Amino acid sequence: MASREHFGSRAAVIMAMAGSAIGLGNIWRFPFIAGQYGGAAFILVYIFFCLLVSLPILLCESVIGRRTHKNTVGAMKELAPGSGWKFLGLLTVIAPVILLSYYSVVGGWSVEYLYKAVTLQFRPEAASEVPGMFGSFVSSSGRPVLCLFVFLAITAGIVYLGVKKGIERFSKVSMPVLFVLVLVIAVYSMTLAGSNEGVQYLVRPDFSKLTPDALAAALGQSFFSLSLGAGTMLTYSSYVSKDEDLVASGAGTAVSDLLFAVLAGFAVMPAVFASGIAPTAGPGLVFETLPFIFAKMGSAAGFMSAAASVVFFLTILVAALTSSISMMEVGVAYLVEERHVSRHRATLGIFFFSFAAGILCSLSFGPLSGVKIAGNSIFDFLDKLCSNWLLTLGALFFCLFVGWKMDKSAVRDELTNGGSRTFNARVFPVIYFLVRYIAPAAILLVFLSGVIG
Ligand code: TRP
Repeated sequence: MASREHFGSRAAVIMAMAGSAIGLGNIWRFPFIAGQYGGAAFILVYIFFCLLVSLPILLCESVIGRRTHKNTVGAMKELAPGSGWKFLGLLTVIAPVILLSYYSVVGGWSVEYLYKAVTLQFRPEAASEVPGMFGSFVSSSGRPVLCLFVFLAITAGIVYLGVKKGIERFSKVSMPVLFVLVLVIAVYSMTLAGSNEGVQYLVRPDFSKLTPDALAAALGQSFFSLSLGAGTMLTYSSYVSKDEDLVASGAGTAVSDLLFAVLAGFAVMPAVFASGIAPTAGPGLVFETLPFIFAKMGSAAGFMSAAASVVFFLTILVAALTSSISMMEVGVAYLVEERHVSRHRATLGIFFFSFAAGILCSLSFGPLSGVKIAGNSIFDFLDKLCSNWLLTLGALFFCLFVGWKMDKSAVRDELTNGGSRTFNARVFPVIYFLVRYIAPAAILLVFLSGVIG
């Protein structure tokens, strides 16, 4: 087997991991949930959970990945040979492929909307038709599938190029650009008349909204946002060299993800409120409300609003791509290392599989909308299967594995680089305590609320 690739620097590690973390979850879920559950009060709780629960789980995946320098299945086989833990490896190969299938459908929508923005379809005189465009687009068959194909083909192209030439290079260019783009829209959005209410929606602390539901939502959101439980962070960490500081790169990833979520909030919510439309969650917010706002403003500021819509959909597309490549890489690493398939064929195989499954998800908004699995459309079913079950279980078992099964000295060794990182050595007991007790308890809370709620 060819020797394994490594990320070239700390910056590369953080850019790749933050690339995975920053995605649709930050742009269309975080701003809405934050406002709904109490603004600044929610954001404080979110930061707290992020550091005390999600970051430790991220470190668990990092420890396993960097310890073994292997894919999820290979890593489990090495650390717990001949045991049932290999199924955890398998679970975390399957979950990201399913995730990729439906996530790419939305990625495809951003391709279409970027095209619409570039070809100036959000015109002021057609503003009233803009929200309706979304419904008729997603319920058609041909175009969404074509866009899905384009999105997956770009993803596969980057993954095929490999860890250094594909993932590292793409992330290192696109992540700084992404921050600039979202900053530009945030500034633009906050200068609109009436935007102040949107800022208030996001930051006004309302502690009375911090219900148990809000806590579960904060935790669930931070798991999804940090790409936990799908072996993604494990696989990326397996490309991290032995002298890199896992705690530092994990913290850098978590902080970037957090910062981006808040920035995205300031980019989205002020514009929504400026237009007088009630905020909604999910696709409606970014594919109906915002283009409508861009179109309406076109009459007042033609060029600016056209430019803003291009920048906005480009941001969504790039953010979604750096996440989708991280999903695809998990399965590719597995096929290449465990099944001895060439990288070329592995990438092509996952591409076709997720394209086929993605077609079904895409059509579930149109011709296949009558097909229900356990009462849900195909798209919603796969989303619930992943978000409520597979990812939560993956995160729980990674945590239990590192906290209770792995040798404590091996865990310490990875997190402190053999004891040479004195700061890490000092905080290790805290991290270890969080991993053993606090994180599993918190995951159970999310799990139960997801399954019951
Ligand atoms: N974190 C990404 C987002 O916020 C999505 C994502 C990428 C993901 N890889 C993942 C989610 C693995 C869960 C598991 O959009």
